[in-house]
Amino acid sequence: METKIIKIKENDVDKHLIEEAVDTINSGGLVAFPTETVYGLGANGLDERAVEKIFIAKGRPQDNPLILHVWSMEQVEELVEDISHIAKLCMEKFWPGPLTLLLKKSAKVPEIITAGLDTVAIRMPENKIALELIRLSNTPIAAPSANISGRPSPTSAEHVIQDMMGKVDIIIDGGNTGIGLESTVLDLSGETPMILRPGGVTEEDLRKIISNITIDSSIIKEDENIVPKSPGQKYRHYAPKSEMIVFNGEVHNIVEAIVKNTKEYMKAGKNVGIICTDETKSFYKEGLIISMGSRERKETIAQNLFSTLRLFDETKVDIILAEGIDLSHLGIAIMNRMMKAASGKLIKV
Ligand code: TXA
Ligand code: MG
Repeated sequence: METKIIKIKENDVDKHLIEEAVDTINSGGLVAFPTETVYGLGANGLDERAVEKIFIAKGRPQDNPLILHVWSMEQVEELVEDISHIAKLCMEKFWPGPLTLLLKKSAKVPEIITAGLDTVAIRMPENKIALELIRLSNTPIAAPSANISGRPSPTSAEHVIQDMMGKVDIIIDGGNTGIGLESTVLDLSGETPMILRPGGVTEEDLRKIISNITIDSSIIKEDENIVPKSPGQKYRHYAPKSEMIVFNGEVHNIVEAIVKNTKEYMKAGKNVGIICTDETKSFYKEGLIISMGSRERKETIAQNLFSTLRLFDETKVDIILAEGIDLSHLGIAIMNRMMKAASGKLIKV
């Protein structure tokens, strides 16, 4: 398949340029597009055959349900049985934005979207290109992150090109994504609201309007026996090609442990990569050292994490030693991705 790349500016969405993408969605094709979190791989969410192509292009397991992206409340109303008071509050406060809500689905939502579950995941993205694409297509757009299953999510058009060239009809290049991590997935279908995936909207943000929120205990997984409630959380994910180990604890202990381990791995003939932070970078003298951002401004780490993981794939590094960070605010979303990238390999120091 030939893939066309279309460059569109977010603050000046060209109608003619986006029209071709709209036609592609409406004729059952695949369009990769930017959102404020990560790039999505979109298809008409009400067209089962189009949605099937997403699973094939990504190599995604069929039991992993998709998010439907909407631009209006009218669209939401058609896709769910009921919008509860809490759901309405969340939508008013956080939409458009990086929050995905799980609600009881209506009969209109195809089985393939929800993988047979009775809930549907819905999000109104904030990126103007995404919103225009959905509005002009006049249909909810199903879109997982636009990476090959298992790889880090794409935060630039280049990442999408690496994974999806020849597999999709159109890639819209709208520059780098702002947040860099996927949306928070909040389950509002049960008794108590539960965060199934931490993301762009933090628990602290949500607590301002929902007091009785809980978090799926498998999010920061140290116990292999805990089964996550969100199907997508159970797969190895975000993984760089080389082995990765995360070190967490007091910052000075992390640095000391990574310095020591670097020496040992190098002595054993391994090429070592180090993922550190702006505050600690100067402490490392050997290995391939990349800072993922500042501990003081976790949003910079969120922005750079996936591109940092992809960067190591272009090197000859055999093992990546990565600094962990504390779990407050965006920290839990960042650590959730890092732990998956490391297949759960954590050393507490
Ligand atoms: O920021 C985002 O959410 C991006 C952009 C493109 O919008 N999308 C994204 O989609 O990250 P995806 O498919 O990579 O992740 C969706 C997550 C998966 O973990 C999936 O299992 C979960 O949401 N999910 C979707 N529908 C669900 C449902 N009905 N019940 C439980 N989990 C669900
Ligand atoms: Mg994904």
